[in-house]
Amino acid sequence: MSHAVRLPVTALLGFGTMGRALATGLLAQGLATPRSLRVGARRPDAAQAHAEALGLVARHPEEAARGAEILVLAVKPRDVDGLLCRLEESDALDHHPLVISIAAGVRTASLAERAPGCAVVRAMPNTPCAIGKGVTVVCAGPGAEARHLELAQRIFGCMGAVLQLDEKHMDTVTGLGGSGPAFIYLVLEAMAEGAVMRGMPRAVALELAARVALGASEMLLATGRHPASLRDDVTTPAGCTIAGLLALEDGRIRSVLARGVETAGRVAGELAS
Ligand SMILES: NC(=O)c1ccc[n+]([C@@H]2O[C@H](COP(=O)([O-])OP(=O)(O)OC[C@H]3O[C@@H](n4cnc5c(N)ncnc54)[C@H](OP(=O)(O)O)[C@@H]3O)[C@@H](O)[C@H]2O)c1
Repeated sequence: MSHAVRLPVTALLGFGTMGRALATGLLAQGLATPRSLRVGARRPDAAQAHAEALGLVARHPEEAARGAEILVLAVKPRDVDGLLCRLEESDALDHHPLVISIAAGVRTASLAERAPGCAVVRAMPNTPCAIGKGVTVVCAGPGAEARHLELAQRIFGCMGAVLQLDEKHMDTVTGLGGSGPAFIYLVLEAMAEGAVMRGMPRAVALELAARVALGASEMLLATGRHPASLRDDVTTPAGCTIAGLLALEDGRIRSVLARGVETAGRVAGELAS
């Protein structure tokens, strides 16, 4: 167990895929303990087995929120409004906790309207956070000061890298960072299929494709070089790579992927309506 400085009492409201990933990361990194981390679930009985596996107790959201200094909203975008209404009506926001929402498409202005007097931070993590290899983008909302952003960075830092951007980019962040793993899985599956077509065993092809993506990504981050320049290193004149690249460009791979991210970002902005 690391000796990380513990977070104040934190309530995770919503204990699905992302809520559980967060709980796992916070406990594993020593940022929270079963005493300082609360779980709020719509159906505590149904959530209890998952909570218990982490040494936690599932409670009703208002019970988990009361007195907690940080609330992390990890429910679906359409459920955010109802959850905050329920908390406000039961006076569970009277102590003005920091509210951090990971709901796609939900603006900080509407969070602040539902949680008056609370500082608000919006964050967008992604599913690789479940194994500590995610990336989260955070942005400040109404009332959020540097210390609130620092708390959010510590929370999501237990699950991978954390970047900070202005809220106007958050729907785009959802399209690239949140949906991005799904796009990469599709690309990996397709690349592996090219090798399967040539007779390579499927399992080896998938591992090879995944390791190639991992290495290429690490190379880009470590060198800071432009992808086009890194690509040139692989592309010998009259060689096999340029032949493959031209086949990909014939299929408009560049605009297809770019439009995928653009479309996901646009739809993300409509999720809460
Ligand atoms: N999955 C991703 O890749 C990803 C990435 C970034 C951000 N997000 C965001 O993270 C949020 C959660 O996504 P998820 O994938 O974790 O969804 P999920 O697996 O469906 O979990 C949502 C959980 O919220 C619970 N819930 C609903 N209303 C509630 C309430 N009033 N009080 C307490 N709990 C309530 C649901 O309980 P029931 O089972 O009883 O309905 C469910 O367990 C979403 O807003 C999404 O936009 C997701």
